Amino acid sequence: MNDRRPPRKRRASNEADPPGTAQRRAALRLLDAILRRGDPLDVAMHAAAQGLTGADRAFAVAIASETLRWMVDLDALIDSATTEILPDDVKARSVLRIALAQLLVLKSPAHAVVSTALPLVAGGPRRLVHAILSRAQQEEWQLPERATLPAATAERWTGQWGAEMTDAAEAAWSAPPPIDLSFAAEPGADEWPDAASFAPRHRRLPRGQAVEDMPGYREGGWWVQDVAASVPARLLGAGEGRTVLDLCAAPGGKTMQLAAAGWHVVAVDASAKRLDRLRANMERTGLSADIVQGDIRSWAPREPADAVLLDAPCSATGIFRRHPDVLHRIEPAQIAEMAILQTELLARAARWVKPGGVLIYATCSLERAEGEDQVSTFLDRHKGWAIDPARTVELPSAVAPDANGLVRTVPGMLADAGGLDGFFIARLRAPSD
Ligand SMILES: C[S@@+](CC[C@H](N)C(=O)[O-])C[C@H]1O[C@@H](n2cnc3c(N)ncnc32)[C@H](O)[C@@H]1O
Repeated sequence: MNDRRPPRKRRASNEADPPGTAQRRAALRLLDAILRRGDPLDVAMHAAAQGLTGADRAFAVAIASETLRWMVDLDALIDSATTEILPDDVKARSVLRIALAQLLVLKSPAHAVVSTALPLVAGGPRRLVHAILSRAQQEEWQLPERATLPAATAERWTGQWGAEMTDAAEAAWSAPPPIDLSFAAEPGADEWPDAASFAPRHRRLPRGQAVEDMPGYREGGWWVQDVAASVPARLLGAGEGRTVLDLCAAPGGKTMQLAAAGWHVVAVDASAKRLDRLRANMERTGLSADIVQGDIRSWAPREPADAVLLDAPCSATGIFRRHPDVLHRIEPAQIAEMAILQTELLARAARWVKPGGVLIYATCSLERAEGEDQVSTFLDRHKGWAIDPARTVELPSAVAPDANGLVRTVPGMLADAGGLDGFFIARLRAPSD
């Protein structure tokens, strides 16, 4: 049959998309990389947000982050508006998720949200997406006060820590956290007058400020570091020129603390890319360390050190407030895998501590398998080693050691003042002969 109709115009290319579509497209790619491939947000960002810079890139990341934070509740709204449940992995659901996150969390103008959503479902159910977004506006959809935790996380944490902790975690997860700064030296009383302080050389500021624009960034007297993340180095005290092996050091938050506290730091990490960030951090702050690229499963120092700090790779479930992708990616199998690696790394790190020296073990995880259980296994297998109990005076306010002298920070701590990341920290003492 001879079809004489003129050829249909092809759908507009990307250039014909409404302004702002590129940021939403990047957010969609980010979501896909995280949910389908299990990539961490900061890794996925480079490929997904290619071509975007500055505020556009930050907007794409904010859309993806808030979508992940509110995903359980966004999905409930989407499901309430369709007769048949949209499969989890269809594009229309992802587009609706990011569009609703813009409308309901980021409060973007509705016309911009709708006009940039439709090109993203080209070839898909545009009418359905349009109808749901119109309904959201007409019916003035609202999100609950708190973002619901993914069911698997809530169940796992309730099993380990109880319902109260899960409740506090849900409250903590509902908004991005404030900005904590660590200082190389205690700032003057008249500097940062509006900031709260929960420990020496710490100040807390409200979120939402661009770090590079804050006073003193270029001078390098401070760096961004959650106050819970500053605890491992605090437990080593002043270095007085002694040597510490900072294992798994990049991007260098603890390296900077240790160098500022007078330690001679040997900073080791397997990742060349992350070590570049460590180098840049040391340069900006004018602090120094010997920097070594090495995989500590095979690398070894020439001689034992006075102290070793192992900030072990982990599931990172404790930093879920600032990395909401974590709770959608991490499954029990990965936690178990990480725990096996941590046992190996901790045993190696212990060999490099001088007799009577100290080993700090830390993870930013809210899983016992990566914290308390590691210490029990370690002590069972390493005769003569003991916990050197942390003391309350060494810790930020509202944090106290547990009955064994171990430090466990959980979401309920300092909740009224912006909360804390979830960390586990143990100070272990080597036998003296
Ligand atoms: C929790 S992060 C470290 C954060 C850092 N201590 C800080 O305070 O900024 C874990 C680090 O472990 C490194 N890592 C993972 N496995 C390693 C290995 N086998 N050997 C050396 N470094 C490793 C990763 O590259 C990553 O930089």
